[in-house]
Amino acid sequence: MENKKTLLEVKDLQMHFPIESGVIIKKKVGAIRAVDGISFEVGEGETLGLVGESGCGKSTTARCVAQLHKPTAGSVFLEGNNLCTASKEDILRARMDMQMVFQDPYASLNPRMTAGNIIAEPLQIFKKRGVLNIGQKEIVEKVEGLMEKVGLSRFFRNRYPHEFSGGQRQRIGVARALALGPKIILADEPVSALDVSIQSQILNLLADFQQELNLSYLFIAHDLAVIQHISDRIAVMYLGKIMETADSLDLYKHPLHPYTEALLSAVPIPDPEIERNRHRIILTGDVPSPDTERHSCYFYDRCPKKMDKCAKSVPALVDMGGGHKVACFLHHAVSES
Ligand SMILES: Nc1ncnc2c1ncn2[C@@H]1O[C@H](COP(=O)(O)OP(=O)(O)O)[C@@H](O)[C@H]1O
Ligand SMILES: [Mg+2]
Repeated sequence: MENKKTLLEVKDLQMHFPIESGVIIKKKVGAIRAVDGISFEVGEGETLGLVGESGCGKSTTARCVAQLHKPTAGSVFLEGNNLCTASKEDILRARMDMQMVFQDPYASLNPRMTAGNIIAEPLQIFKKRGVLNIGQKEIVEKVEGLMEKVGLSRFFRNRYPHEFSGGQRQRIGVARALALGPKIILADEPVSALDVSIQSQILNLLADFQQELNLSYLFIAHDLAVIQHISDRIAVMYLGKIMETADSLDLYKHPLHPYTEALLSAVPIPDPEIERNRHRIILTGDVPSPDTERHSCYFYDRCPKKMDKCAKSVPALVDMGGGHKVACFLHHAVSES
């Protein structure tokens, strides 16, 4: 993927939500470190999978990239423009190139709007703000075209979200995200709320659009099995940090970080022989609350392979060769420690 042009570049991104106390005069007494300094890139036409347990900061990352949260620190470059310092106008224009698809298609679609109006909404908003020059008739044609593209009959245009199945509702979500002709889609667990049989249909739909439109995806999932096939590269996130990143196949074949190994050991392999003899790594407990500053490896509390030095400093994300990076002292050269 090295020869592809970079579309999105995230540098040292941090999102700390303040914890406040006091009724009238609010005082900051701490911070939830939802995202604690991460960097990654997504190339044109490429899919980066972002994976990690619930609560490790994936959604916050996507929301910071889309500028739905103003990050505490760091930069988000879309085609070289830093959105964190851009004007409101420029951010609005960037939204045409960058759209989101959310986990729960029922909660994210307005129940009082028809499917047609939901899909047309981004077009209407940009028309109203004078960014898009498009007539009402063109909008209707475009919406019908999008519906057919995502596998919904255009005759469903006047139906409401509750009249569709979960998979169909997510197709509406995808059509809405495609309406403005984006270059990248930030897909936040787009299939997690769907039945397994429907999941692959939506994944195939997204993969087809990527081929056809040279789209890039930041594809978020809590389950490595879901993003295995769709991702070119994968970044594994834990407690607001990236623990490991590599080409998809490389990560599956040669995981380096104990957290990645644990996530992978939970992925079922469709071969009873291998399944029976597999060594499973069961992580105990949950992701700790990210409300304290850490001076140890972020995975220290739950790591089955922790060493003394892991308690004393935070391992950097180091390239082990070929772009396979890991933040773990088990793999770092002696000279660094
Ligand atoms: N608006 C917010 N205010 C305070 N804390 C938040 C907010 N949004 C998320 N968090 C916290 O940030 C952490 C990461 O959340 P999130 O990004 O939703 O994780 P994920 O999507 O990986 O499940 C969690 O501990 C969550 O409780
Ligand atoms: Mg989430």
